Amino acid sequence: MNGQQVPASVDGVHVSWGEAAAANLANWEDRAALHVEAYNLAALREDPRHLSSVVAEDLPVLHRFVPGGTLAGLDVCHLQCHIGTDTVSLARAGGRLVGVDFSPTALGAARELSAELGLAADFVETDVLRAKEAVDSALGRDARFDVVYTSIGTVTWLNDLDTWAEQVAGLLTPGGVFYFRDGHPILYALDEHREELVLGYRYFGDGSALQWDDEGTYAGDGTVSHTRTYEWPHPVSELVMALLNAGLELIFMDEGRSLPWKFSELMEVDGDSYALPEPLGSRVPLTVTLVARKPLDA
Ligand SMILES: C[S@@+](CC[C@H](N)C(=O)[O-])C[C@H]1O[C@@H](n2cnc3c(N)ncnc32)[C@H](O)[C@@H]1O
Repeated sequence: MNGQQVPASVDGVHVSWGEAAAANLANWEDRAALHVEAYNLAALREDPRHLSSVVAEDLPVLHRFVPGGTLAGLDVCHLQCHIGTDTVSLARAGGRLVGVDFSPTALGAARELSAELGLAADFVETDVLRAKEAVDSALGRDARFDVVYTSIGTVTWLNDLDTWAEQVAGLLTPGGVFYFRDGHPILYALDEHREELVLGYRYFGDGSALQWDDEGTYAGDGTVSHTRTYEWPHPVSELVMALLNAGLELIFMDEGRSLPWKFSELMEVDGDSYALPEPLGSRVPLTVTLVARKPLDA
């Protein structure tokens, strides 16, 4: 152990989606308020060309799969957009953005940030598992996007990837592209509080949740008052099959060696990203990236 307080967790918890989503929402409301201070908003404000480090890493890959190699003029839906740092970065890259999240505090911050930076974006408050209906209702039409994007800290909060993938497919226009990058499911199975690489949690899902009680968050030193959250392990095969079963075609996959947040004391820092020192860095992937396309005849 490294002296840090270890959050309490209980595995194999059977909890309804309503109860779990309500607990997670209360926790994300607290976190969003803390993250407005802890995220690097100053860099976005000071430099009109600045992009969040996540989007800066994602764009070169995404550009390979969109018409003309640019987001310019494309309709982009950003799922689980949080306080909007990635959303405004995608808007700076030329996209017409709709951000989706279930946290009103996060969306309030995202709206303020986009207005302050002069980057037009719409924001829709909904459980992402009902995103299609909510976005349609907010925009007043059958909303279809050239790109649906979600990254870093997303599906771990969801119990049902089939429903999630159906939302993605429903939001895409035929020929449109879904971009996903997140912590690798094997990363989430590691015990981040150990001084060596040790598997501490399940890699495979069985429908039950991992229940956490944790006062901390991944950005800054602030503490939350709603400490209870629920997460679900989703192996790579489940992610891929959910997208294929929703009618999408997988066109790109990658596994990365660096993360945009500090997962473990083992990690070394390189600017905004963290990596495991060798030889550990070659032993385990830290991220997974998937790009999938909705067929033109869908
Ligand atoms: C780690 S953030 C991901 C965003 C992005 N990588 C960032 O750091 O700005 C996770 C986001 O997912 C949202 N979220 C979690 N569960 C959700 C759900 N069921 N429906 C919609 N949003 C959800 C939270 O409110 C939070 O804003």
